[in-house]
Order: sequence, then C-alpha cells, then structure tokens
Amino acid sequence: MVDAMRSPSVPPVIRRADYRAPSWAVTDVALDFDLDPRRTVVCATLSVTRSADGPLRLDGDGLTPASVAIDGRMTDDWRLEDGALLIDLPGDAHDVSTEVVIEPQANTQLMGLYASGGNLCTQCEAEGFRRITFFPDRPDVLARYRVRMTADKARFPVLLSNGDPMASGDLDDGRHWAEWHDPFPKPSYLFALVAGDLVANRSHFVTASGREVQLGIWVRPADLAKTDHAMHALKTAMAWDERVYGREYDLDVFNIVAVDDFNFGAMENKGLNIFNSRYILADPDTATDYDYDAVAAVVAHEYFHNWSGNRITCRDWFQLSLKEGFTVFRDQGFSADQGSPAVKRIEDVRSLRASQFPEDAGPLAHSIRPDAYQEISNFYTATIYNKGAEVVRMLSTILGPQAFRAGTDLYFDRFDGTAATCEDFVASMEDASGIDLTAFRRWYAQAGTPRVSATLSHEAGGGRATLSLHQTMPPTPGQPDKEPMVLPLRIKLFGSETGQPVSDEQLVLLSDDSASITFEAVTERPVLSINRGFSAPVIVETDRSSADLAFLSAHDDDPFARYEAMQQLMLDTLVASVASGRGDHRAVVDAVAGTLRDDRLDRAFVAEAVLLPSDSFVGDQMAVVDPQAIFAAREALRADIGHALAGDWRRAYADAYADRFDYTPDAKGKRRIRTVALGYIAASGTVDAAALAWAQFDAADNMTDRQGALMALVNSDADERIAALDIFYNRYHHNPLVLDKWFTTQALSTRDDTFDMVVDLSGHRDFTLANPNRARALVGAFSMNQRAFHRVDGAGYRFLADQLIALDRINPQTAAKMLPPLGRWRRFDAARAERMRAELERILSVPGLSKDMLEQVGKSLA
Ligand code: TRP
Ligand code: ZN
Repeated sequence: MVDAMRSPSVPPVIRRADYRAPSWAVTDVALDFDLDPRRTVVCATLSVTRSADGPLRLDGDGLTPASVAIDGRMTDDWRLEDGALLIDLPGDAHDVSTEVVIEPQANTQLMGLYASGGNLCTQCEAEGFRRITFFPDRPDVLARYRVRMTADKARFPVLLSNGDPMASGDLDDGRHWAEWHDPFPKPSYLFALVAGDLVANRSHFVTASGREVQLGIWVRPADLAKTDHAMHALKTAMAWDERVYGREYDLDVFNIVAVDDFNFGAMENKGLNIFNSRYILADPDTATDYDYDAVAAVVAHEYFHNWSGNRITCRDWFQLSLKEGFTVFRDQGFSADQGSPAVKRIEDVRSLRASQFPEDAGPLAHSIRPDAYQEISNFYTATIYNKGAEVVRMLSTILGPQAFRAGTDLYFDRFDGTAATCEDFVASMEDASGIDLTAFRRWYAQAGTPRVSATLSHEAGGGRATLSLHQTMPPTPGQPDKEPMVLPLRIKLFGSETGQPVSDEQLVLLSDDSASITFEAVTERPVLSINRGFSAPVIVETDRSSADLAFLSAHDDDPFARYEAMQQLMLDTLVASVASGRGDHRAVVDAVAGTLRDDRLDRAFVAEAVLLPSDSFVGDQMAVVDPQAIFAAREALRADIGHALAGDWRRAYADAYADRFDYTPDAKGKRRIRTVALGYIAASGTVDAAALAWAQFDAADNMTDRQGALMALVNSDADERIAALDIFYNRYHHNPLVLDKWFTTQALSTRDDTFDMVVDLSGHRDFTLANPNRARALVGAFSMNQRAFHRVDGAGYRFLADQLIALDRINPQTAAKMLPPLGRWRRFDAARAERMRAELERILSVPGLSKDMLEQVGKSLA
C-alpha cells in the first residue's frame, strides 16, 4: 500500500508540445547592481511590448520584490505565483522596474549570482537568471542589455559584463562603478557579470575582415602564468571558425574568467565566457596532456557558441542539442585538426560508449530532442551533447563536405538573431543539399542505440560477396515501438590472403529494417570492415572470427577501424573468459604485439589501440553484469599481455623517453605510450615495476608522467605507494586542481581496499562537497570504479547515497548529475539490484529533496 503522507511530491512535467510564443517581448533591459557578497541590490528596468493578451509574467526563484514600478510610478498592483511576478499592464508598451535584494555569499547552488574564492560571478543557463532578478527567463525572449555595477574598489577592482565597456568611475565612499552595453539582443541565460580581484592575460586577434578584438583571460594573480595555453587555443579557435565555417567574431572585446566553483565545464555568455578553472589553467607542472587537450577543446567549444548558440539561440530548452550537439561537433573537428584525427575519433567514441550508450540503455534514456522534462538541468547529458554531435556528424557524412558547409551557411544566414529549433537546422541541411531527410529526422525523436547485425557471405567460385544488414531499435522508457533509423555505414572489404582491399569504400545508407548489398569480382575470401570511422553511433554485431578481427587490426587502412577491430577482439575475449572462468588470450596477445611492433604507426595511436576496454564497457556487453568476474578476467588478460610481451613493453617504454617536456603531438604520443607501457609492466607482476614507477615519479618534469607513475603505484601493494601519495599531497595541496587528481587517483585504484580508502578520504580535511570539482573528484570517480562501487555488500551504494543526500542540500544540480550509476540496478544480479533500489528508495524518502533529484530518482525507480 502506498502511504500517501510519505509519498514524495512529483515535480510538474514540462512538455515540448505545450510550447507557446511569449505574450510579452522585452526589447531593452537596464540592470543596476549594487554588489556586496552579503547583500546585493538589483534594480531592473524592462521595456516590454505586448504580443498577446494576458498579464506580464516575470519568472523569479527565491525573490521578493522590494518595489515594483510601471513607467516610473510605484505600484502594489502585482501578485506572486510559483515564485513568478505577475502584473496586469493596461497598454501594449511599458517600462517595468523591480528591485530585489539577494545574498550571493549564501548561494551554494552556484546558479545565479554567487561568490567563488572571494570574487562574485554568475551562472544563468539554464534558469539561473530568475535567481538574480524578475524576468521572462526563457531563451526566446531576446533583449539588449545595459549593465551598471557598483562595488567596493579595493575588494572588487575588476567589474566585467557582456558586450563592450562604456564608462567607469570612482565614488567617494571607496566604491567604484562600471557600465557595459551589449549591442546584440540575447536571452537571459547568456547574461553574465564578474566582480573581483583579477588580472588579465591580454592579447588581441585581427578578424578576417580586419577588425581588432581585444582578448582577456582573467584569473587570480597567482594563476596568470598558467593562461598562455588557453590564450593560444582561443586565437587558434577564432581563426579556425573563420576558415572552416566562415564565422567571424562580432564584438570589440572577448573576455574569459576562470573560477574554482562551477557546476559544469564552462559557459558561453556573450562576450564574457566564465570557466571552471580546470578548463583554463595549465602548465607542465600541474596539468596533464589530457588537461591541455581539454582546455583547448573547451575554450574552442565556448568560443564556437558565439555563432552556434548566441547569434542563433534555442527557441526552448527542448532544442538544447541544436546548440550543444552542433557545438560539440564543431569542437571535435577543431581538436581533430590540431593533432591526430584518428586518435581524436577514438577518444570521442570511447567517451560516447562510456557515458552515452549506458544512458541510452537505462531508465534516463531520452532522445536528443526530448519531449518532456521536470528539471532542465538534468538534460545537460551525454545524449544531448555527444549523441547530438554524432547526429550532426552523420548529416555531414550523408551530405558530404561541400553540401554540409552550404547547409551551415544557410542555417547561419536564415536564423541569425533568432531563437531556432532543431527542425530549422535539419531543414537548412535539406534545402542546401536537396537531400530528403524525412526519415533521418527520427534521430531527433527516438531514444536508444540502434543495433546492426551484419553477415557477409562469399561464393568462392562466382566471386560475388553479399552483405546482409539488419537493424533493431531497443525499447526505451515511453517508446516501446520504433521506426528504423537512417544509418550511414562506411563499409569496405579486405582480402584475407593478400591483406589488400577487394572493394572500394562504400557509404551504405541503411534506412529499412534490412538490406542486402552485393560486391562483384571478389576473388579471395573477404573480411568485412564496417562502420569505419564510427560513421553511425550504433552497436554492430558481426560473425567475424578472432582471426578476422586480428587480421583487420593489422591490415585495415582506416585507423579507427583498426582500433575497433582490436577492441572487438579484446571484448570478445573478455566476455568469453567471464563466461567460462578462464581465457584464451593468444589472439589478443599476438594482435597487441603486431600493433606495438609496427613502427609506421604513431605512438599515440598505438597507445589507444593496445588499451583494454574498461570494466564497465565489458559489463555493458553482458545480460547481467558480474563486476568481480569482469575485473578478474581483465586483470588476468592484462597480466598475460604484460608478461608475454615484457621485452616489447620495456623497449616501448625506453624508446619513448624524452629528457625534457615538450608539448607537441609527437611528445604527447610518447608520454602516452610510456604510461600505457608502465601499466602493462606493472600488470606483469615483475618485481622491479614499483621501482620503475617510483623512478618516473621522482624524475618527472611534467604532470602527465608524474600522475601516470602515481597511478601505477596507487594500484600496487608497493611501499612506495604511501610515500608517493604523501609527496604528491605535500607538493600540491595548495593547488585545488592538482589536489583533485590526488583524490581521483585513489578513488580509481584497483586495490582491494579502495572502498575503505575512499571512505577515509571523504573525512579528509581537504574534502568538501561544496566544491563541485572536489565532489566529482572523489565521489564521482569512485562511482566509476565498477569493482569497488559494486561491492556485493552494498557499502558502495550506501556511501554514494549518503554523499548525494548531503550534496543535494548544498547543490542539487551537481548531486542529481551523480545519481545515474545507482539507477542502473536492472543490469545487475538480484542481490545487488535490491541493494541499489533500496538506496534509491532511501534517497526518495528524504524530506525536502530537490526537484533535480526527485526527477532522477523517480525515473530510476520507475
Ligand atoms: N552551455 C554550457 C556549455 O555547454 C553548459 C553549462 C555551463 C551549463 N554551466 C551550466 C548547463 C549550468 C547547465 C547549468 O558550454
Ligand atoms: Zn556548450
């Protein structure tokens, strides 16, 4: 029986089908901030014009109006409804002014105006602006903003907002003021201000049409030396967007500010990007190569939003992938052009499989253009971002480079200055190319990862090969039956005797349930290379033997396909050994040896190709995940690869030695293969592995080598483990970003006592849930450690639930984002599933749970 008293409230559902154009437009906004961390006064004057009957509705969240005026005259003729301010206005055009008082220092949610490291900053996407002032806080209300800020000059010498600085001056009480105007109409989610004690790395960029843009990256004085990489990335991205998409920057200034407390990676506010400091600060001593790449990618991503997001924004939040999917696709293209496109593709597919595939297969599955949500913050997902980027990539594959560019040109041209929809984007592609995309549009509507089965048959005598393709779409919550998808599959055949191609590459568009493709004049037994470059984000099942996969891993001429063949071989091997309890490792060992010894391959590629699939990806292949068996099978295979190829790993390790740090693709590749080699050397169980790791740790002149060595030690039983952790801590405990690595490295350890260490670390004096980076570094990382998290006694689940219940009171958005690992209970055995469910129920029973968490937990239990 349901106990009605205790049943938690269900947040209202917002539906895409209910979209209505706004009944009032806002043409201009004047904002006046009297800034103080404890008491900030916000006066807003909105010039509003009527487009339909009804009251003016201004969203508000936790605000109380201190005063309301219409056309300069105070009024009491207003009411509050669900936090929003409703005013019946007599005419069709008015100036409406409100005054509110807010307390940035008490804002632990980090949405709206908040304090970070003594400075003040804002985060408004998606619905944070309503925590600052009353406003129609929806992306289809575009207005011109004038912002005036007043603050204590000693504490907040720098005052920044969107657009261009207009005027500034001193006041006689030690305070000062500044005014900024943004000439481009924008939605409220792109508003930003920063007040702080900051210094800038300044530079400039001359656009293709010859305009000079002043660039500034603002940080605390101590961090200034760590901003050159971000500045270089910014200028490279500005030039890339001109060259590849014909997009120029449009204001005279572009500023970036780095803050330590931030819910996401970064935010594309017009002319004033605000960043999580982890995506700005980098120097060799504190940032890994991975961090350097991420800094460049996120700087580019936020910059690219100026066109795909800001100049053209979203009509409503259901269209979020319009800006995010497209912008991720653009930043992926940018990063591919900076180094190795093959390695970049491998990394992107790996992360798609690690985060998006499980989402699509679980209780939170949604299409890239969802139909309903309760809390929009929960929809900043791998599906919207990464699958959204894959959908744009498929469009570019189907159209080809020229028509795709014509499509983006048409889209930018048609919708500049407006709030658009995903449909507008697809229609632009259709109109520019003349290709009918009717069936392709299902990618926007249907959730779930398509499965494609492929079987190749060959008539030895006649030389004809026939490929049979069949697709199925899994049911997902609310979508039991589905239409077939349009899948662009790049396909090629290789001769098993000569190793040479026996067909040209074909782009097959599978748009029905099944299709059959014939290849003529195939004179030797063909081996199938399919979904080359991961041309469609699907799961492919083939009947290829281990020998065929090993063959492709050596002979395919598409580097991604080589990697993929090796991964499939490793996956098949691991799944078989989990099932049988013992593994036949020969094929994998030989294939790894072949790749490792191929000197024509770049080291970064080799490093990716020889890495085993993660524990959780192996689990994703199984009907019921057995975390301990997967761990054991994977460790056994690692040990065998390490042991059987001991000499190769030593050679690879020694050959990749560099006597000083250099940030080039070649040097990065060498560091990468060294870390991987060190891992295999350690896995082989050789006695000197710890000494080797310690020597690397001790001699390292960069964080990639230092953290790589620390990781090897933290997974080991060696005495050096504790010493290295202490040295690392003592050296870096004042640097929050590096200290995060210290927490994460331990949370991801493969040791048996990892769970106990994580519990201890949650009581460490440097641990806090108030900083999202730190919370993710320990709690988020731990939940990714499949074996430790899924302890059979359920202690891992209880720990995560405890942390999330505590975090929900501080920062619901960040808490809700870390829930999905608990929601995957259906994938586990009955004992684990029951314990996971029990923790979800326990979370749900907590009084005062946030809307964010209620939605995620509710869906996970449904
Ligand atoms: N639009 C941002 C991006 O993709 C994402 C973002 C930053 C965000 N901060 C947020 C989303 C807060 C929701 C809430 O670059
Ligand atoms: Zn984005």
